[in-house]
Amino acid sequence: METSTKSNANQLDLNKLDELFKNFNEGDESLLIPLLQASQELYGYLSMPVLEKIAQHLHIPLSRAYGVATFYAQFRFKPSGKYVIKVCRGTACHVRGSKNILEAIERELGIKNGDVTPDLKFSLETVACLGTCFLAPVMMINDRYYGKLTNKTVQKILKEY
Ligand code: FES
Repeated sequence: METSTKSNANQLDLNKLDELFKNFNEGDESLLIPLLQASQELYGYLSMPVLEKIAQHLHIPLSRAYGVATFYAQFRFKPSGKYVIKVCRGTACHVRGSKNILEAIERELGIKNGDVTPDLKFSLETVACLGTCFLAPVMMINDRYYGKLTNKTVQKILKEY
């Protein structure tokens, strides 16, 4: 039965996890990372209730699931924004002022690196190198690259979204 209460919505979410578990043998700890990855794909991020259920399913302590999830940079613990901004902090971008670019974005959106805007429109993160150093300083918004950034062009780009 569908209802609109928040707790029931969460319950529905966890039911989706039960579906996912059908592809992962109960009690097999070697499946922890693939299961974390699949769960993140399902929800967009990992929450504590999801980690608890994963730990129960694999018969491991919650601290183990949490420890592994927090060790790897690929796992996130907050929902992503509709538009994910990745600002490159690699060496080439660093020497060309990526710190200023990051600060300009933070000011423009009113959030810090690693956060998501309250309306879930943008999330902001930094990465080591986007592989387009000749365009430094560079950022990506979802799959799109933006290079040779300045504080001004950043403002203009963000307004397009
Ligand atoms: S260092 Fe920024 S793209 Fe390579």
